[in-house]
Amino acid sequence: MTAAYGLRRQLVVSLAVMAIGIALLFLLGSYALFALLMAFSPSSISDDLTPSPIEAMWMLCTVLVALVLAVVTAVKLSRRIVVPLNSVAESLRRIAEGDLSARATTDDDSLGETAQLVRDFNSMAERLQHMAQQRAFWNAAIAHELRTPVTILRGRLQGMTEGVFEPTPTQFQGLLKNVEGLGRLIEDLRLLGLKDSGHLELHLELADLAAEVGAVAQAFEPQLRAAGFALTLDLNPQEVLCDPVRIRQALLALLENALRHATPGAMRIRHWVEGEMCHLCVEDSGPGLNADDAARLFDAFQRGEASRGPSSGSGLGLAVVQAIAQAHEGQASWAPSRLGGSAFALQWPV
Ligand SMILES: Nc1ncnc2c1ncn2[C@@H]1O[C@H](COP(=O)(O)OP(=O)(O)O)[C@@H](O)[C@H]1O
Ligand SMILES: [Mg+2]
Repeated sequence: MTAAYGLRRQLVVSLAVMAIGIALLFLLGSYALFALLMAFSPSSISDDLTPSPIEAMWMLCTVLVALVLAVVTAVKLSRRIVVPLNSVAESLRRIAEGDLSARATTDDDSLGETAQLVRDFNSMAERLQHMAQQRAFWNAAIAHELRTPVTILRGRLQGMTEGVFEPTPTQFQGLLKNVEGLGRLIEDLRLLGLKDSGHLELHLELADLAAEVGAVAQAFEPQLRAAGFALTLDLNPQEVLCDPVRIRQALLALLENALRHATPGAMRIRHWVEGEMCHLCVEDSGPGLNADDAARLFDAFQRGEASRGPSSGSGLGLAVVQAIAQAHEGQASWAPSRLGGSAFALQWPV
């Protein structure tokens, strides 16, 4: 509404200024003309209703000047309104034809609302283009992540059918591991898909988070200990509102990351409630990350430089953690840990 009002006001002001200009020209010009005629050539002033030649000339000139003024104003106004609109229309057509790089242009003196329209249009086009790039990236990344385990499975199974590999329990265990990896990848993709479409439903309940975290830690501790990690817990027994299954899933992803990416040493899981926020934090003692990298790593398929080898994960772990935190209307974040490495934290309102 304010936009329409602003544009209307500018139109009214421009037209009013033009009308006043023409009226003043006519009035003041006539005064000046008749003053001059009376002083120098009183005979050329007509006595009746028919204008004298000089008066007729004067009327014609005034009409011409008024016309020029009106045309200039109209052209100026239309340039400031119609040109940006045409540019938007043209870009809209190109976008509809699939060219998402089309952008509308505007002069600096475009009227406020048309300039705003062009800006809004351009930021919409920007978002569309970004989404299209994102989708292409996702498709490529998913195909890439699926290809490796499927290639391994096919090679092994083919080897077994042709008698190259003995079908031993160890072979089958290897195959099973690949299938489990695929299953996890699919489950992670499903969760991220649900979150993106706003369908990630939580089963919220009042849960004793200390007990939940304790159970996960206990189950995972042997693996950590075997790899040289010393896990300590700092938990606050208090009932908080959350989906305990999802929180356990996020915690497990963080513990797996520590196992995979952190240097063996001290590790700590902390859980506390401060004000309205519940915090769950997993800390390790090295090598840590820099803050810029850390922010990027919460996006899907983003991995650290050191973790791009063939044995690395899919790069979905932290994206899943973030999705779970956001589904709780909270946030997952990274900070340097006092233990010397990373502190990955989830916080959400209770
Ligand atoms: N505890 C950690 N210490 C150092 N780097 C980490 C840690 N956790 C995660 N990272 C970095 O974050 C990246 C993204 O993690 P994640 O999304 O779980 O993907 P993935 O574990 O499959 O590589 C990892 O590739 C790794 O570089
Ligand atoms: Mg991971």
